[in-house]
Amino acid sequence: MVDRPIEAVIFDAYGTLLDVHSAVARHAPRIGPEAAAISAEWRVKQLEYSWVRSLTGPGHHQDFWTCTTDALSFVFARFGLRDAALMQDLLDAYRRLDAYAEVPAMLQALRARGMRTAILSNGSPMMLVEATQAAGISTLLDALLSVEAVGIFKPDPRVYALAEQRLGLPAGRMAFVSANPWDTQAALAAGFRAIRVNRTNAPDEYGLEAAGVPSLPHLAALPGLIS
Ligand code: LAC
Repeated sequence: MVDRPIEAVIFDAYGTLLDVHSAVARHAPRIGPEAAAISAEWRVKQLEYSWVRSLTGPGHHQDFWTCTTDALSFVFARFGLRDAALMQDLLDAYRRLDAYAEVPAMLQALRARGMRTAILSNGSPMMLVEATQAAGISTLLDALLSVEAVGIFKPDPRVYALAEQRLGLPAGRMAFVSANPWDTQAALAAGFRAIRVNRTNAPDEYGLEAAGVPSLPHLAALPGLIS
């Protein structure tokens, strides 16, 4: 795939390594038939709040945990949910999301090939530490990079530059892997070897296919692709 060796692989966290829908899935019987719709809208609102805060200006930044809790409050109101204990249990579950099943072996395989591995995420430092420990992958990652170091969310270019600064490598020597196409396109624009994960066989976006960005159905094939 590449003409120069990749020395590090940078991952998005939420939706890429961690299943954002596993929180609602754990409590789905308490929610009922709208559980999947609630989980989907929770995610959409969480991201919307992050983008609106970034675009409104530096004085309006609040961290991703605040976006996550505000989004769940909105979704509870919209769906007429009033169970405060359920809300707290969902937030607790979000701090301990499941990693996708193939993730630990995939990270081990990359490291066995001599590559460094890192997360670059909207998540706050607290969220990233807790989630990776709970998912059993914290020892398989060399760095957990949070947007909080720059105070603005993806896809601001300063976020992607953070990976270059912290890893000490130019973007062109790093793969950037995301299941969020808007994140993949921003990484491509920042000069990374961008790779899309497309678990739901969703349509192409942002001209990623035309730009030659590889798309994987899951992460098990990643070590073979980039080595
Ligand atoms: C992240 C969000 C975008 O982990 O999923 O950065």
